[in-house]
Amino acid sequence: MVAYYAGQPPVPPASVTSAQQASLLEKGKALAAGCAKCHGEDGNSKMPGTPSLAGQQPHYLVTAIQEYHRGDRGTAAMKAILRDSSRLDLESLALYYASRTPAQRPAPSFGDPAAGEPRTAMCGGCHGPRGVSSDAATPSLAGQDPRYLMKSIKAYRTSRQHWGMQRYVAGLSDKDMENITAFYVVQQPRAADSVPSSARELAVKCDRCHDTEDSAKMVVPILRAQDKDYLVMALRAYRDDKRESTTMHKMSVVYSNAVIDDIASYYASQPRDKR
Ligand code: HEC
Ligand code: HEC
Ligand code: HEC
Repeated sequence: MVAYYAGQPPVPPASVTSAQQASLLEKGKALAAGCAKCHGEDGNSKMPGTPSLAGQQPHYLVTAIQEYHRGDRGTAAMKAILRDSSRLDLESLALYYASRTPAQRPAPSFGDPAAGEPRTAMCGGCHGPRGVSSDAATPSLAGQDPRYLMKSIKAYRTSRQHWGMQRYVAGLSDKDMENITAFYVVQQPRAADSVPSSARELAVKCDRCHDTEDSAKMVVPILRAQDKDYLVMALRAYRDDKRESTTMHKMSVVYSNAVIDDIASYYASQPRDKR
């Protein structure tokens, strides 16, 4: 049966109900109104001790928000605020903030950026050489609020759990932490670029699973020459968490309807047989 169906042309579903769904970005924007008084308009915080969210890596934001949500990261204010949010709300917020442009900050009143720089050599391997992370699960530090940065570095030595971070901050003196903080605060921040600019560029990422010699072994479906409406429906279902697949959900959560439309058109127009 499987061999028979695998050989048949694809059949689109009768209707695309998710077409009416508002994009996550718009939803996130509406929800973010409740966060603005502390995190600032557009996620650039002006309140000492409160982190900027603008341009932050979206997967990191989702994780951070979920930690408050579950109470793992104990901050009474943040927990109460997020208690009633659904998973989709949290992801919409993360996507919205990730898409905002982060603002540059003046030097803080403590620490010496030049003395901090050499101490960040190790940190740069994960957080990016100048604090702009290119990994979706690792936060950018460039342009972050200085008091919040100091507090969060210290938190990994006491209350905040993370296998990597706890190890890396354990040996730092207070002076080191101040200098490192000063270094990151004055770096030029840049928004997370997790959404590539063209469908072709994005497809390179998808093809690592969907278009390799091993695809068949990995049980990954073929996307080339698949019906476009079907691809749109499937991707939105993963994104909106209506179709079970942790891998595909993580992959698609950052894509707007427009990006999904582009990538679906791209694959629908590709020949079934590779090259
Ligand atoms: C009353 C002020 C206040 C409001 C309103 C508020 N926050 Fe926060 N938020 C904070 C503070 C303070 C922190 C830092 C807490 C800590 O030290 O862990 C924080 C931390 C965070 C972080 C962690 C950032 C990081 O870099 O790890 C995220 C994400 C976040 N807030 C999201 C939100 C969202 C989304 C909303 C709206 C639904 C919101 N916050 C509303 C005060 C606020
Ligand atoms: C092995 C990779 C790795 C290295 C090396 C590393 N970090 Fe991290 N860092 C992470 C990850 C992943 C997170 C997010 C952890 C979490 O969810 O709590 C993080 C979180 C942080 C945060 C919290 C940011 C926020 O918005 O709340 C700070 C501050 C930080 N790191 C500073 C540093 C400094 C300073 C160094 C060097 C001394 C360093 N990190 C080295 C991976 C790393
Ligand atoms: C890490 C491997 C991996 C990557 C990378 C990946 N996918 Fe997937 N994809 C899967 C797996 C596994 C499934 C099957 C999941 C399931 O059982 O629903 C799948 C299913 C799909 C489906 C459903 C197809 C069908 O016939 O029902 C679509 C559409 C899809 N992926 C699109 C994409 C796009 C677009 C990208 C790039 C943005 C991408 N995938 C990247 C592993 C991956």
